[in-house]
Amino acid sequence: MSDDRPGLKHLGIIMDGNGRWAKKRNLPRTAGHLEGLKALKRVIIEAANQQIKWVTFYAFSTENWKRTEEEVSYLMRLFTSKLLGELAFYRTHQIRILAIGDLLGLSSEVQDVITKTVEATKDHEGITAVIAINYGGRDEIVRSVNRLIASDNQITVESIASNLDLSQAPPVDMIVRSAGEMRLSNFLLWESAYAEFGFYEPLWPDWGAKEIQLIVGDYAKRVRTYGGLE
Ligand code: FPP
Repeated sequence: MSDDRPGLKHLGIIMDGNGRWAKKRNLPRTAGHLEGLKALKRVIIEAANQQIKWVTFYAFSTENWKRTEEEVSYLMRLFTSKLLGELAFYRTHQIRILAIGDLLGLSSEVQDVITKTVEATKDHEGITAVIAINYGGRDEIVRSVNRLIASDNQITVESIASNLDLSQAPPVDMIVRSAGEMRLSNFLLWESAYAEFGFYEPLWPDWGAKEIQLIVGDYAKRVRTYGGLE
């Protein structure tokens, strides 16, 4: 990477293909999600090694409630049991956890675990991992606009941006998706306005250091002009 080309600071990841990974092995879809969690940990470690400061993971969308009760409750149980259960891992790697989405739409148990995990990791000085739960890009924009209306503020590009869930984060530089699908699926709609995109074939549970190294290399080749000239 040339010195004048800024590195990848904030990466958004759409973790896709857990179900397909499980199906290939004749396992229940939930086994794919559990394996996906292991991939998430490998990816965070390599992202930190690569000096990426923020990674936002799409863990549960506002549309994912349409899945079977079994799958939804498994994912919710995964959040309650694993988010706070990984405190030693967060400490060792100095990972700060944040959450975005309509968190008030989650059970009080999940909300409680999120609050405790965010609090317990708030002084960690390494990478920030943002978990998008009950998150939808359209919903994020609507919640921002409603906050502005309630406080009698003007609706402008700047005021909407400063009320989004990710308003305190650096701009999202690149959004990547696993499992070969080429869709945004309501992820980071506003933030993606000038983001780079990357689509990669491996299913999410197969991701590890190699994929992150590939992404960092791909990003370094992109020339970003934000609508201007090079
Ligand atoms: C998409 O694959 C994946 C999800 C909807 C869930 C992602 C969640 C995790 C990896 C767990 C995160 C856990 C914590 C504690 C943060 P899919 O099921 O749509 O796969 P398919 O398209 O192959 O069916």
